Amino acid sequence: MTVVVSPLTPGFGAEIAGIDLRRPLDEGYFEIIEDALNRFSVLVFVEQALTDQQQIDFSKLFGPLETSVTAIRRDTKSRLRPDLAEVSNLDEDSEILGADDRRRMYNLGNQLWHTDSSFKKVPARASLLYARAVPPYGGCTEFADMRAAYDALTDDVKRKLEGLVAEHSIFCSRAKTGFTDFSKEEREQLPPVPQVVVRTHPGSKRRTLYLASHADHIIGWPLEEGRKLLAALITHSTQRQFVYTHRWRVNDLVMWDDRCTMHRGRPFDDLKYKRDVQRSTVSDEITTVEREGVRLVA
Ligand SMILES: [Fe+2]
Repeated sequence: MTVVVSPLTPGFGAEIAGIDLRRPLDEGYFEIIEDALNRFSVLVFVEQALTDQQQIDFSKLFGPLETSVTAIRRDTKSRLRPDLAEVSNLDEDSEILGADDRRRMYNLGNQLWHTDSSFKKVPARASLLYARAVPPYGGCTEFADMRAAYDALTDDVKRKLEGLVAEHSIFCSRAKTGFTDFSKEEREQLPPVPQVVVRTHPGSKRRTLYLASHADHIIGWPLEEGRKLLAALITHSTQRQFVYTHRWRVNDLVMWDDRCTMHRGRPFDDLKYKRDVQRSTVSDEITTVEREGVRLVA
């Protein structure tokens, strides 16, 4: 088989055909995928009938995997192994979650623009989301190209953003959807963390915005001023010209680079249809603050 990389837009998103991810990759294929990821940020592998282990084995080629935060939540009965994050609307018996289920409320946060695990000190490098069942309409995932969004900023704004650090917390994004029902233990397990606002994408050496709804404020700035800036940057980055929308098909595996993208799930009739998707997440190596060599304000 020959690998074919077909761009979905001129510079953002590509479909990868000619690879069977159930088998070890042929020589040179990993480099082709890594190169495409560095270039296009979002890769769509179609018609991949994967087992959990096959998804994990492929994901691990890119680095160590994260343990899902579901593993530390008190509603933790998960269908999935700890290295797979539950992104579906299903309970431990694969039945649709009820209207007032805590997990359903928690999952609403995934509909806000974010990058995965920016609420962890060392955030995600890449995410791989695999679809086992999809609703007949709705439930798309939108991706924003944060390198293109950075390039489109004026030089003045770029200068203003240099060296800024935002405080990120999972409880910040959940509060934005009105969900604040967390125990003290849950809050203690995931304390707020600092993340740079602009970083260099290691694979392309391009500068990129690094934002998420997990970001609460800019460290060292008045609260409201920082929040205003973060909201304005998210609005800027998610204009249509920076966004690719993925319409899911069963057996799609979509991989994205969390260091230079944001994404959000779109609504669907989640009390009627199953959206059975599971994510493996590759961890980055060091914190964004260390990588950028930024000194934190006390
Ligand atoms: Fe996500």
